[in-house]
Parts: sequence; C-alpha cells; structure tokens
Amino acid sequence: MIADQASTLRALRKKEQNLVTGSDSLIKPRDYSIRQQGIRVISVTSGKGGVGKTNIAANLAYLLSRLNKKTLVLDADVGLANIDVILGINSQYNLYHVLKGEKSLSETLINGPGGIKVLPSASGIPEMTDLSRGEKLTLIDELNTLNEALDFMIIDTGAGISSNVMYFNMAAKEIIVVTSPEPTALTDAYALIKVLYQRHAKKRFRLLVNMARNPSEAKEIYERLSQATGHFLNLTIEYLGYVLLDEKVKDAIRQQKAFAEVYPNCSATKCLAKIADKLSSETQEEDESGSINFFWDSIIGKDCRQK
Ligand SMILES: Nc1ncnc2c1ncn2[C@@H]1O[C@H](COP(=O)(O)OP(=O)(O)OP(=O)(O)O)[C@@H](O)[C@H]1O
Ligand SMILES: [Mg+2]
Repeated sequence: MIADQASTLRALRKKEQNLVTGSDSLIKPRDYSIRQQGIRVISVTSGKGGVGKTNIAANLAYLLSRLNKKTLVLDADVGLANIDVILGINSQYNLYHVLKGEKSLSETLINGPGGIKVLPSASGIPEMTDLSRGEKLTLIDELNTLNEALDFMIIDTGAGISSNVMYFNMAAKEIIVVTSPEPTALTDAYALIKVLYQRHAKKRFRLLVNMARNPSEAKEIYERLSQATGHFLNLTIEYLGYVLLDEKVKDAIRQQKAFAEVYPNCSATKCLAKIADKLSSETQEEDESGSINFFWDSIIGKDCRQK
C-alpha cells in the first residue's frame, strides 16, 4: 500500500519534473510540508578525518535502538569506510535512486543491527547543494511516504568544512563534534566549530572525545578546546563524554559488525552506552527546529515549499 502510494507519487513527480524543466511557473505544486514531527536530528561530525565518526554514529544508533528509540542513520559521507561497510550490510540502492525517481525512500532504507534503519551514502550523486529543484521536490515527496515515526536521525558526516559537511551540520539541530586526543584533530575541531558558529550561526556543540586512553585525558582535551572557544569565540561548548581507545572496536570492524553488538561489555561500548542513555533521557526542547521538517527545509530551501 505504501509502496503503491510511493510509486504513484514518483510517477506524478516525474511528470511534474518534466514540466518544471521547461518552465518553473507552469505548474503550482501542492503543499510540500513534511508531516513528521518530534524527531531529533543529530549530526556526528569532525574537523579531521579518521577520528571515529562512522563508528560512533553506527554504534550510537544501535545503542539508542536498544533503548527502544526508533533510529535511522543517514550516511552523508561519500568516503569509503561507510556505515554499510562497517556494519556489513548490502546497499543496492541509495539516495541517488530516490532522487532519480527509481526507488522510494522506504525501498532504499536497509535494516541494520538491533532494528536500526540505514539510509545509505549518496555516493555518485552531485553535492547535495547542487541538487536540482525537481530532485529536491522528489525528496520531499519521498520523505512524506516515510510514515514510520522516528525518534532519532543520526547523520554521519564527512570530515572538514566542505559544503556538504556544512550542509548536513546546518540541518541538524544537535551537533556532536568528535575528536581524538591528537593535537591536529583538536585544532581541526576548533576550526570546524569556528566556521559553524561564525558563518552558520550554530551555537550548540557537544564534544565527544574518542580513542582516549583514560577519562582524565578526555576531560583535559575538552578543557583545552573549551578554553579556546571561550577565549577566541566567546562560545561555551558542552562535554558529551568520551569513548576509550579499545582494540575491540577494530576487531568488530574486521567482522563488519557493530562493536556494541558483538562486544556489549567492552570499554568502548560501556562509554558509548552512557552517552546513549544521556541523549535518550533528555527531553527535547519544544521547537520546530529538531524535527525532520526543519532538517529537510534546511537542505532543500524553503523556496521550494513556497512556490
Ligand atoms: N574507540 C576506538 N578505539 C580504537 N580504535 C578506534 C576507535 N574509534 C575508531 N577507531 C579506529 O579509527 C578508525 C577510523 O574510524 P572511523 O572510520 O569511524 O572514522 P571516521 O571519522 O568516520 O573517518 P572518516 O573521516 O574517514 O570518515 C577505525 O577504523 C578504527 O580503526
Ligand atoms: Mg567516516
């Protein structure tokens, strides 16, 4: 029934796109609002690559799901070590197929461990910022067919300050900045926060120190970064927590499994479970900006809805 609805919508959308290609004002699209509300959209991001974002995003999603939170992981990185690879799941389709009207969003979602849903990386498609208006409209339609309410959407972004990374971070209400204790990771985390704060008016950042050797090393890293943001940007950042350096993480990657699933008692899992508990027990601030509505508005641009 949902698939039927989706294919009808796709057919209509294709027709509409053809019209739109000719002239923007030929048709007056209907209401494009996304009907889902209440979802928490959290990006997992970093200045420097290789600090553990993908592993944190996938395992955090897994642990949230274990807490009975319906969770979707959106792989917004076009790199190689993607969520589907580390979780050993096959992704035949991705956002590209949705945008081309070949598949519905629900056909594209993959079931991951512990009941999580995974929206695979959109590798092979143009930068999200370069999507055509027709593609953006297709995306909204598809999102409207996702009638399953979600509690969390975790976005695994690429590293750095490229437009794609900025885009997804702008769209998420909550930003988790991941750093390792390495000095270069720390300076790159600072650079990322600076750009998001100064150019994109983001104000809330939570730091997760990954691959820490002990809790005090992690706290010290947080203190250093928070002193820098306080001093140079007049910005306070929050400490979300740490995940210890743990060989079991690498073992799990080799097995293409979530470490939290195969090693539920390892130190990395215990650390991340505390973070998942913290996130899931928070009450969401009552404003629209955490909803999927805001998320896709930010990506697509409000102009699409108004026309
Ligand atoms: N807590 C940890 N303990 C030990 N090793 C870890 C831990 N977290 C990550 N790693 C190691 O770091 C590597 C990089 O992790 P991951 O791919 O998640 O980083 P990333 O930030 O997503 O990288 P990229 O920027 O390339 O997307 C992993 O392959 C793993 O070997
Ligand atoms: Mg990654």
